[in-house]
Amino acid sequence: MTTQKTALAVLVPLILSYGLHLLLTQQLTVLGAFRKEKQTPVDNPNDLVVISGTVNCEDLHYHAPSNSIFTACDDVAATRRAWFPPLAVLIDPVAGSTARGSLQVIDTKTMKSRRLELVGFDGPFVTHGIDVISAPKSESGDEAVYILAVNHVPHIDYVKAKASGLDVPSGTQRADPRIETFYHVLGTDSASHVRTTKHPLIKTPNDIFAIDSRSFIVTNDHFYEDGLMRTVEDIIRQSTWSSTIHVRIPETADERVDAPCDATVVLSGLHNNNGLGHGPAPDQILIGSAASGAVRIGRLPKGAETSIQITETLQFESSIDNPSYFSDPYANATFDASGIVNAGLTRAVDLAEAVPDPEAQIAVMVWYSRPVLSDNSSSDAEGGAYETRLLFEDDGQRISTASSAVLVAIDPKLEQGRRKAWLYVSGFQSRNAIAVKVDL
Ligand SMILES: *[C@@H]1O[C@H](CO)[C@@H](O)[C@H](O)[C@H]1NC(C)=O
Ligand SMILES: *[C@@H]1O[C@H](CO)[C@@H](O)[C@H](O)[C@H]1NC(C)=O
Repeated sequence: MTTQKTALAVLVPLILSYGLHLLLTQQLTVLGAFRKEKQTPVDNPNDLVVISGTVNCEDLHYHAPSNSIFTACDDVAATRRAWFPPLAVLIDPVAGSTARGSLQVIDTKTMKSRRLELVGFDGPFVTHGIDVISAPKSESGDEAVYILAVNHVPHIDYVKAKASGLDVPSGTQRADPRIETFYHVLGTDSASHVRTTKHPLIKTPNDIFAIDSRSFIVTNDHFYEDGLMRTVEDIIRQSTWSSTIHVRIPETADERVDAPCDATVVLSGLHNNNGLGHGPAPDQILIGSAASGAVRIGRLPKGAETSIQITETLQFESSIDNPSYFSDPYANATFDASGIVNAGLTRAVDLAEAVPDPEAQIAVMVWYSRPVLSDNSSSDAEGGAYETRLLFEDDGQRISTASSAVLVAIDPKLEQGRRKAWLYVSGFQSRNAIAVKVDL
């Protein structure tokens, strides 16, 4: 009895600590605690282009029909250190209330970015995730898109309390996030505001997956706004408290601001779900778990289903953020470079320390995953395994932070038959987005 007890007394803590050790080791690996920053060499200087005027652009979306990349930016670097709830920066709501971020369009031919004038919209704009979907052809025959954008507006009570210089009463709501919808005719320099959507379930929004202009999926990346529990949420992958919401705006709701909408939770139980991307099939959704370094491939609910069905999980060695799907326009019977691209941080473990530092150079890694084509692919109807390789990395000098990366294929005729692409990389705290030529 005594020996048994003694054995238990020794073994239980051992097993527990071993389990904890494994758990922490995996998480510390993803967060990069043991990793050194590196630079992928770019031998030809023409193979790396800095896209000027793209400050702190979180999300990139390639729109193939117009050969352009849509992005949402802060424009003013200091905003991110004053007011950005997604990084638990809730210091200066007054600065947040005057922030005017931008929607921009990068022409992939000229690699120049232009800022869209926002028509009918002059409120605070603290940008984060976006989605871009083709709009039905208008009567005038215009080709247009809807741009849906997360907007982290500070709550008016918090702005007033801070502006008064007095103590902020406890319990004051600090963040008042919403989703803005814009309509943009391709090729023009403006986007018209369509509506602002708020719902109590949209609490810590990160990214959007638009089904159509009135139906979209939103991730809430954390349960806690800040504090110790938020840190726990970042570090412990078992803290699966974030949620994914489906928002629907009835056709009858015409109001520009606060139109009534329905929202339901369509996915819960994931750790730090974050960026969203479209998969190859219209009902496929890519869901990034940032601090877990994982991407889930899921299917939107259909029929009577009420939740997203996860069909596959890809685990990466680093944190990741907004997944994107690259559809290879030059694929042939023997070579198809289509795959999933993920950008993340080499050492997410250092992020909290680096965020307040305007000079910080935050190292990045970009991953590229392609399905492994097996002889009997019918046995893995859900897509089977993926093979992943590191496509690009930087120590933060050429690009500081990466939250999004998209591939734009180069015509093999221009590259002596070789398969290459421009990889566009941008980050929530990057001075400029970049494009770098890579081999597929
Ligand atoms: C398909 O593309 C690859 C890569 O460009 C090329 O090597 C191959 O010859 C092409 N195959 C066919 C059948 O055209
Ligand atoms: C091919 O199919 C067989 C039978 O369904 C299965 O046992 C095998 O693992 C599959 N191989 C691959 C590479 O998927």
